[in-house]
Amino acid sequence: MGTVCPSPLAVLVLLFICLEASVASSSGVPLYKNPSATVEARVQDLLQRMTLEEKVGQMMQIERSVANPSIIQKNFVGSIISGGGSVPKDRASPTDWMDMVDGFQKAALSTRLGIPLMYGIDAVHGHNNVYGATIFPHNIGLGCTRDPDLARRIGEATALEVRGTGIQYVFAPCIAVCRSPSWGRCYESYSEDPDLVRKMTQIIVGLQGKPSKAGVPFVAGQHNVAATAKHYVGDGGTYHGIDENNTLSSFKSLVNIHMVGYFDAIAKGVSTIMASYSSWNGKKMHGNRFLISHVLKKQLGFKGFVISDWQGIDRMLSPPNLNYTYSVETGVNAGLDMIMIPFDYVTFHDDMIALVKSGYISTQRVNDAVRRILRVKFSMGLFEHPFADRSLTGMVGAQEHRELAREAVRKSLVLLKNGKSKNDPILPLSKHASKILVAGSHANDIGRQCGGWTITWQGQAGNITPGTTVLDAIKSTVHSSTQVVYEESPDTSFAKGKGFDYAIVVVGEEPYAEMLGDNTNLTIPDGGIRTIQNVCSSVKCVVVLISGRPLIVEPYLPLMNAFVAAWLPGTEGKGITDVLFGDYQFEGKLSRTWFKSASQLPMTVGDKYYDPLFPFGFGLTAMAVEGNGATVFGSSLPLLSIFIYLVGQILL
Ligand SMILES: *[C@@H]1O[C@H](CO)[C@@H](O)[C@H](O)[C@H]1NC(C)=O
Ligand SMILES: *[C@@H]1O[C@H](CO)[C@@H](O)[C@H](O)[C@H]1NC(C)=O
Ligand SMILES: *[C@@H]1O[C@H](CO)[C@@H](O)[C@H](O)[C@H]1NC(C)=O
Repeated sequence: MGTVCPSPLAVLVLLFICLEASVASSSGVPLYKNPSATVEARVQDLLQRMTLEEKVGQMMQIERSVANPSIIQKNFVGSIISGGGSVPKDRASPTDWMDMVDGFQKAALSTRLGIPLMYGIDAVHGHNNVYGATIFPHNIGLGCTRDPDLARRIGEATALEVRGTGIQYVFAPCIAVCRSPSWGRCYESYSEDPDLVRKMTQIIVGLQGKPSKAGVPFVAGQHNVAATAKHYVGDGGTYHGIDENNTLSSFKSLVNIHMVGYFDAIAKGVSTIMASYSSWNGKKMHGNRFLISHVLKKQLGFKGFVISDWQGIDRMLSPPNLNYTYSVETGVNAGLDMIMIPFDYVTFHDDMIALVKSGYISTQRVNDAVRRILRVKFSMGLFEHPFADRSLTGMVGAQEHRELAREAVRKSLVLLKNGKSKNDPILPLSKHASKILVAGSHANDIGRQCGGWTITWQGQAGNITPGTTVLDAIKSTVHSSTQVVYEESPDTSFAKGKGFDYAIVVVGEEPYAEMLGDNTNLTIPDGGIRTIQNVCSSVKCVVVLISGRPLIVEPYLPLMNAFVAAWLPGTEGKGITDVLFGDYQFEGKLSRTWFKSASQLPMTVGDKYYDPLFPFGFGLTAMAVEGNGATVFGSSLPLLSIFIYLVGQILL
């Protein structure tokens, strides 16, 4: 089994590769299968053995629902995806997942060159398509923690849960800098502030492991996964926050606001980057050769692969799929390496072959794409460890991951109001009250507290996966003698004159995700407002808002004794009671500007005209006084600062 060396242009690198190759081939094993050879040598060796059909196969990512062993073998399919909610069966177990992924892998390994495939999934707040997985808070909440190391630990836990289903590749993190809360994906963004987003890219180090060298695609081993920084670039800057729309900006502000997170992601060795559906100044990102090939690959030196979004190339034209040949040609020539097709792989395959044979796509471009894909596959150890590690099934929903999610929830909560005046704070709540009311649509609903991208693409209300609701958490926190009354309906006059010590009202948005989640009125859904008015007008109340973005609350704020933004906390409701009842301090600081009205938008920190209800970075603390349930507002301040504050008040 000889190795063919590219001859006349033999630069030093190639010479080196050939030397290594001859060593490897003398042992009878092709160089690319030798784990002690360098990644680049293995890539080069494998690439030169591949036919055009095999190369095009590596560029294909197809949906699991259309995949089967013979399609994988016939087309040399390089990657498979689970779309949002696409599961092997309802409530599939970790073993069901592993069996499915390994079944596909077996088919890939039985092809002529035996190139393993990568299985990819949206694990954007934990392994969220999988029944029983730990669901972490969505990114908007993590931004409020200001804790990059927490993000790293969440990445680590998520990687283990993903590996616990035999999957090696995630389409996360989303490093969008969401400038308009109208955008239905705003909760997938850590912040409106690019610097905060940059810090939270530390999650990549958790997902992939800590690289020894900056800027090279890196996955530490079989307890980590390949990550995706998305969506390149400007996804969070579209006009009025319209999903997949147009980001109008100068190159300078595109770089300073939306691109800087990619500097960090690349430095941290991110394996893949996903193109954005959106346009920049009217040009679709999926076809933007300047920003993908020149800026990202050449100037920023990105060495991993660029993947398109779901039917992203189809959507380059309107209506989608108007001229698929055009889309393939333009997308691949712009620099897309792997195409998330995800269904019509036959047309993609035929178009690619025809476009290369007729010279519209160069062999050089195809080789660049395949080289990048193989580089990631070799560097993550996929050739050595293509199959699921069956010892990891217990990672899905593991107790230590749930504890971590609970920590993330309590650190992400932002206390925006505590007391109608400075002298009557209501938080922390007493665990020893005799009778309390818990009210609202979101108090006892796992689906609602998880939001979109949970079990299904858009998410849904109801008992969709195991977890602890806010009501469960309250019941297990208060003293056994405390009577807990729960009311979901907004309109029953259940509050007045019933002798409640206090009420906890939990309301918010219904689950949503991309496209369907766009919203320009930004109001609390009607039932929630009625619940607040109904309860808070007769009982001392804490309002906990479950939402993917700030909503209009100013008109109702005077009714509330306390107001807490809980974002989309996920499965671990105890993180909420940890801080409501004073076992932990409130630490969260707003990752976004809280506007007064929708007409103020877009309004972001740093704007010349900035008149928010609560500014970016705002967040109160509530300290328990030792021994009883009473509280002192702001008692966490050291005496000296209270003194300075008082002097300041006097001088003013
Ligand atoms: C932006 O949205 C508007 C309104 O829906 C639509 O007409 C326009 O085509 C969109 N632009 C892009 C670039 O998607
Ligand atoms: C579709 O696009 C291809 C490639 O750009 C082009 O050659 C062809 O003429 C287009 N077809 C139509 C019907 O416009
Ligand atoms: C606000 O917008 C959402 C999403 O478009 C819609 O479902 C809701 O009914 C609107 N609410 C009001 C009060 O207009």
